[in-house]
Amino acid sequence: NLGIAITGSGSAVPKTSLHNQELTQLVETSDEWISTRTGIRQRRLAQPTESLTELAAAASRGAISAAGISATDIDLILLATSTPDDLFGTACKVQAAIEATQAVAFDLTAACSGFVFGLVTAAQYIKTGVYQNVLLIGGDILSRWVDWQDRRTCVLFGDGAGAVVLQANESDRLLGFALKSDGTQNHHLNLTYQGNSQEIIPNVNVAQGTYQPITMNGKEVYRFAAQKVPEIIDKALFQAQITVDQIDWLILHQANQRIIDAVAERLNIPDHKVISNLANYGNTSAASIPIALDEAVRQGKIKPNDIIATSGFGAGLSWGAAIFQW
Ligand code: ACO
Repeated sequence: NLGIAITGSGSAVPKTSLHNQELTQLVETSDEWISTRTGIRQRRLAQPTESLTELAAAASRGAISAAGISATDIDLILLATSTPDDLFGTACKVQAAIEATQAVAFDLTAACSGFVFGLVTAAQYIKTGVYQNVLLIGGDILSRWVDWQDRRTCVLFGDGAGAVVLQANESDRLLGFALKSDGTQNHHLNLTYQGNSQEIIPNVNVAQGTYQPITMNGKEVYRFAAQKVPEIIDKALFQAQITVDQIDWLILHQANQRIIDAVAERLNIPDHKVISNLANYGNTSAASIPIALDEAVRQGKIKPNDIIATSGFGAGLSWGAAIFQW
């Protein structure tokens, strides 16, 4: 079995920011309500002229350059997203934008778990010897799919993309992982297609419509995350044969500061090891982990050989954890 290593990271967020205070022009809310319940203070919003392809390409260029390879070295591009520019797939558009001419490219959908699911998927291609250099991107523009009149959801989300390069490596730096899905709880968090029946010829109907804005049962999602995330991190740690005190950094999906705090407390991980950038970006779905990772690397917090525990969780419901060494 071959090993894998993450050899570079990059990220990109839209320039336009929206502060909590500005949201009070839109819905009945307050900076105080949002920041105390979620930890979010502002979020970045993609403007109509911006695309997921552009954000993903910018993040990818950063990751490729940090890894010290060129785009033509990439064998595989995985784009974890729930908000593609094109439902037929957006990874190919990213491939063209960065001129990764040798890469096969496809999208992967696992909502806020997308980056962790993508990390494990990318690793399998490398471990089997099929590919050597994989570009994994987590990117979402959820601002296009929230109901901006619904204060229970519109205050939570932001847009962005993060990317990493994974390469074949002598020692395996992906130390352990665990993934889970529970479709019986699917109804707690949705972005569903809804079509109106249209009779195209007598007795033959099709459903034509569009995707409907995000609906969420906040309390249920909170309960789910606070319970399942510590469990799955424990499982991945067990598989990695790593103890909690060996973890240098905890990077959770940035959904809510209260979830992050609850998980860290359950696992007995002290605050100074917990990475959080939720205040600046809100919940960027599949992008939140790679953006947080990239920032921490560029700030010099994460150093070579540090052990990182990460967990993504969200719609599906789906959740997963990975333990890796930088
Ligand atoms: N501003 C002001 N008041 C609000 C707002 C808002 N933006 N949103 C809801 N309220 C009101 C509600 O209407 C309710 O009022 P009522 O009692 O008169 O009916 C009151 O505040 C309390 O609402 P709850 O939904 O009970 O608030 P809660 O304390 O559960 O906090 C929150 C809501 C922050 C969403 C919480 O449930 C949570 O953190 N859930 C986790 C979900 C999450 O993070 N999802 C992110 C997306 S999923 C993912 O990425 C995994």
